[in-house]
Amino acid sequence: MTPTAFSITAGFPDLDALPKDFIWGAATSALQIEGATGLDGRGRSIWDTFSDRRSNIRAGDRPEPACEHYHRYPQDIRLMQQLNLQAYRLSIAWPRIFPKGRGRINQAGLDYYKRLTDRLLNAGIRPFVTLFHWDLPQSLYDSHRGFLHRDMAAIFADYAETVVRALGDRVTDWITMNEPFEHAALGHLTGHHAPGHHSLSGYFKVMHHQLLGHGLALQRIRALQPDARVGITLSQTPIQPASDRQRDQWAAGFANQLINRITLHPLLKGEYPEELQRRMRWFWPEVTAADLDCIHQPLDFLGINHYSCEFASYRWYIPFLRCWISGAAVAEQEAEIDGRRYTAMGWEVRPEGMAEVLRMLRQEYGNPEVIITENGAAFEDHVINGRVSDPKRIDYLRDYITEVNRARAEGSHVTGYFVWSLMDNFEWAAGYQKRFGLIHVDYASQRRTIKDSGYWYARLIAEHKR
Ligand code: NOJ
Repeated sequence: MTPTAFSITAGFPDLDALPKDFIWGAATSALQIEGATGLDGRGRSIWDTFSDRRSNIRAGDRPEPACEHYHRYPQDIRLMQQLNLQAYRLSIAWPRIFPKGRGRINQAGLDYYKRLTDRLLNAGIRPFVTLFHWDLPQSLYDSHRGFLHRDMAAIFADYAETVVRALGDRVTDWITMNEPFEHAALGHLTGHHAPGHHSLSGYFKVMHHQLLGHGLALQRIRALQPDARVGITLSQTPIQPASDRQRDQWAAGFANQLINRITLHPLLKGEYPEELQRRMRWFWPEVTAADLDCIHQPLDFLGINHYSCEFASYRWYIPFLRCWISGAAVAEQEAEIDGRRYTAMGWEVRPEGMAEVLRMLRQEYGNPEVIITENGAAFEDHVINGRVSDPKRIDYLRDYITEVNRARAEGSHVTGYFVWSLMDNFEWAAGYQKRFGLIHVDYASQRRTIKDSGYWYARLIAEHKR
């Protein structure tokens, strides 16, 4: 369906290098949109607990009622059709399937995702399903302290197997984990995310155990569903030195190992970065050769979430990252400072970063098939006379998609692109104030309004498919 409500005149990027079967989609995750956290047998997640403490989430927001997507998914799928989406990336709420994390299966949870994926397929939209997008069952935290415990890798694989057995006749595209770095670092090192801890050794453990869980789940999915396409989604945030000083150069290189290569290396090369292991030896978890073999298995695609770039400088013997380590010290608002533009998250708009990431994967990691599983921006949006004019988001998307096209022209094997997000939602510790959607959500009335960027994206997809 071609949108008619507004004629969005903003230009389109060049798409000439992208093949006709390039996949255009949008993404969400369960906790951020579903609501209904106490319904139909869903167990508690660590995010329900984390948001019990009001100071953990801006304005004391909670993941309830979020976008009420649990009830409103038929309407939301109609909106996806209006956006001409070919694919939709969703996640499964682990506590809906196993209220206690393992053991008794909650059939109502599986049934919900069957209904959802059936309806997507009927609408001609291909589901890409993420198995773990941070909403860990609270019970597994109580019993195992979550991914701090090595046994969690096997528990995750059991959960993955249950979901794939139930949905494998409908879903072929699986993403085992979403951004293991963020779950490990924000949840266990900086404490900004659930479960809210501060431990460097905890960070490395949680990272390794998630990757191991990915490897074990991958084996199970391959055995159960030979035609499945399986990947993992990683954030990639290129880090530049803050100055020409040699120490800052080192800091940037080291921060890249700590943040970006800590996942890429074991997944694509079968080893952790050597310098990282050496310098962090006091904090390093138990890693066996068999673990690395399990993590380093062929992927059908690598999911990349890319939003922005960072700068590192050397201070107190550690690489100091403006955003991560200082706890988002940059003003979290839209700004233009010294000619640099920042989104409402305080993240710099630097579209070249997209091509840089894809180039690095091509040159240093064997040019794997890549799907951009998230890219997008939060800006302040308002509904005025039934319309949301969001030219900054259109500019952002256009400039980043231009870089995807450029990378493909240079030889990168990028085959799909998903906007984060389909609709405004619960932005974790930032609550509901940060709006990433192509669709505006008025949380009080639950009214949805397609933003200008949504109409623009719908036209882009239609034009590219013509
Ligand atoms: C990455 C995460 O996967 C997603 O849940 C989050 O909302 C976006 N980035 C924006 O921060």
